Amino acid sequence: METVKTESNQNPIEETIFGEMPDGTKVKKFTLKNEAGMEVDIINYGGIMTRWTAPDKKGNYEDVVLGFDSLEQYLDGSPYFGALIGRYGNRIANGKFSLDGETYTLATNDGDNHLHGGEKGFDKVVWDGVAKTTEEGATVELTYTSEDGEEGYPGKLDVKVTYTLTNNNELDIQYEAVTDKPTVVNLTQHSYFNLSGQLSEPVLDHEIYLNADTYMPVDGGLIPTGEFREVAGTPFNFKEPKPIGEEIEAANEQLSLGGGYDHCWVLNEGEKDFRLAASAHHGETGRLLEVYTNEPGIQFYSGNFLDGTLPAKDGGTYAKRSGFCLETQHYPDSPNQADFPSVRLNPGEMYSSRTMYKLSTK
Ligand code: GLA
Repeated sequence: METVKTESNQNPIEETIFGEMPDGTKVKKFTLKNEAGMEVDIINYGGIMTRWTAPDKKGNYEDVVLGFDSLEQYLDGSPYFGALIGRYGNRIANGKFSLDGETYTLATNDGDNHLHGGEKGFDKVVWDGVAKTTEEGATVELTYTSEDGEEGYPGKLDVKVTYTLTNNNELDIQYEAVTDKPTVVNLTQHSYFNLSGQLSEPVLDHEIYLNADTYMPVDGGLIPTGEFREVAGTPFNFKEPKPIGEEIEAANEQLSLGGGYDHCWVLNEGEKDFRLAASAHHGETGRLLEVYTNEPGIQFYSGNFLDGTLPAKDGGTYAKRSGFCLETQHYPDSPNQADFPSVRLNPGEMYSSRTMYKLSTK
């Protein structure tokens, strides 16, 4: 396995080969490190974060994200573990939307609906990857050009995603995109976290906080009904931190439809656009994850579809609810819902989105 070290003083970025695509294309793995001792592995297949090591309150470093050991396992079928999602995070009803009078048809890869960009979304393509050390930290810049019509979407879309690991144990993710025709874009990151370090064990004991007064009820296909519902007095209230498991089995129509939590929360506006959206705390290890974003929504998914069949990195298998996702995004199905913030991108405009995951202990 070849190892290249980029020139840098404090934060060397290791570049190795993670695996080979069926056509022989080599997939690279970038290991970002910081002065504190944290490491993040990013591969240029799907822009997937395959590993993130974080200290517990005693200083023991453990991996806190679900994933696989080999590229073959990702190719065999992954529930979007650690991946970049595009062109559209979450669902578009019936795989259809209209723009300027023209109707576009997308893959219906989730029942009757379109999910996470289609059959071959940004999670399944090989990106170009360049490692850099900047003042902010160790960085990998991933770029991908999605051709006009790819997966049914209009416009040639040039996308750049930059991951930076800072010395404050933050993973800063910047998304940018430009198009040559009007189109829709909604990019996100689909990491599954398990802060206990026991990656195949349920996360029900993690306490979640969501900076949201309302959430979006869904129909049977997990498409928002268009209603913004108050969380107060419901199992969807995470305005004060609460264990995932506390009310997940409560008799509640929305929990039944989602098979647990699998909804978009409407983030409260902060003083500035970029604000704390969510946090997760694991009491025993003390690990705390904070999520900052300038997006209007966050999909909190409690790993309900994991069913103990996929092989875990720790040798076990990923049990139901052994990871949770906090996906920052515009609202699902926005192209079909006129009252939701627009996801339209025009030529000459820059799509720009930022999310920061920060790990600490408390
Ligand atoms: C998203 C969706 C879930 C599920 C996962 C991937 O978070 O909202 O319903 O499809 O992705 O398994």
